[in-house]
Amino acid sequence: MVSDSRPRRWRRLFIVLGSLVALLALAIGGGVTLVYVNADVSTVGRAEFSNELAIPPLASSRVRSDGTREFELDMRSGRTEFRPGQATETWGFNGTYLGPTLRARRGEKVAVTVRNQLPEASTVHWHGMHVPAAMDGGPHQMVQAGATWTPQWTVDQPAATLWYHPHPHGATEQHVRRGLAGMFLLDDDVSETLPLPKNYGVDDLPVIVQDVKFSGAELDSSHAIFRDVGFLGNQTMVNGTLTPYRNVGDELIRLRLLNASTARSYPFGFADERQFSLIATDGGLLERPAALDRLQLSPGERAEIVVRVRPGERTVLRSNKLAAGLDFWGQRFAGGDDTFDILELRAAETLRPSPQLPAALARPSTPDGSDSVQERRFDINLAGINGKPMAMDRIDLTVTRGTAETWIVHNNDGMPHNFHIHDVRFRVLARNDSPPPTELTGPKDTVFLPPNATVELAMRFDGPADPDTPYMYHCHLL
Ligand code: C2O
Ligand code: CU
Repeated sequence: MVSDSRPRRWRRLFIVLGSLVALLALAIGGGVTLVYVNADVSTVGRAEFSNELAIPPLASSRVRSDGTREFELDMRSGRTEFRPGQATETWGFNGTYLGPTLRARRGEKVAVTVRNQLPEASTVHWHGMHVPAAMDGGPHQMVQAGATWTPQWTVDQPAATLWYHPHPHGATEQHVRRGLAGMFLLDDDVSETLPLPKNYGVDDLPVIVQDVKFSGAELDSSHAIFRDVGFLGNQTMVNGTLTPYRNVGDELIRLRLLNASTARSYPFGFADERQFSLIATDGGLLERPAALDRLQLSPGERAEIVVRVRPGERTVLRSNKLAAGLDFWGQRFAGGDDTFDILELRAAETLRPSPQLPAALARPSTPDGSDSVQERRFDINLAGINGKPMAMDRIDLTVTRGTAETWIVHNNDGMPHNFHIHDVRFRVLARNDSPPPTELTGPKDTVFLPPNATVELAMRFDGPADPDTPYMYHCHLL
């Protein structure tokens, strides 16, 4: 009896321990599976399109005697009713959420009086604008709470859809998420002469796309588990409007798409898979319109598309699953499996005829790489660029005014990134050693980088030079 009771006790102990380990593994496995299964979101087919799309007002301006066009932007906190009866704490420019659309012409001098009425320091950066470094509004031009900043510059670049947003080091994501963003449109002789839809708010619509998540009445900005990529919301807004529709009365509608989300990329298309014409990218017009049925924008990127509608129909701008070569895990947790119905266009029974799109748009304005005097390499991952995280007091490289360069940017991470360069527009010479896809053939200032991708960019640095104030280049997943 005594002789075999010990082995039996051990055996029982092993069985109990073994079962515990198995249970624990199952619990962890089950938990991970549950997190995985619940990690994708979709509003496709469920959006009610119950709210009329808000159009940000054109900012009023006054022209000084010396011809300078002067704008005013007040950064404020307030409350916004995205959903009836529920006021949400938000920040905005001249209002409680987002900001007015600034508009200026090439050659014009502009001045902006920025008043920071927020409880903390911030900045206003003119994304895509060719400006002197001290006017750029990056983290090196902080505006303290209660202070005023008055940058001015001369607009000297082609017509384009630019935008403005805060850029304080370490707090940009939160400031943009709370609502600080707006469009800055530039016009020039070319854009004004071409027969394009250009009636702001009528057949030329700003489309500022953001993803949001509410927790009670407030905006939830927490990063979910495994979301290295950053904040991902579970629904989208356009111009601060949830489930928006817009009545349109013209045959051709121009949408100025801006991805103002902090981490999410949108592979746009239409629910009925109709084609549309891409006419401009971040930095302005393409050489000619290009027919597409998909167009992906990562955070910070813009595109202008023209879509044809038929009388009486409805069509939905949709964001589809990402086809960027992410792995199984990354696809799910970087939002790649998510889909959204973004905006419904409702065409009137009778439409005003629109002129055909012109066959040619604009001459290229970015260098083709042949006169680059310098080639540089940038490796991006979560740890930083070329292994170094951003530091306010470090300048990484100096370029020579008037010269062109070729930058080779590589994502050596398992997650998506993108790359934005201040002050300049670049041409994408190649992506993964192949000619760039159509959507990257126009002038750009921000470019998407799926895992392991390499892009080759050519840009010219036209100055003005400033030996003390740096510009930034960075990933725009805030
Ligand atoms: Cu949109 Cu460095 O910024
Ligand atoms: Cu990144």
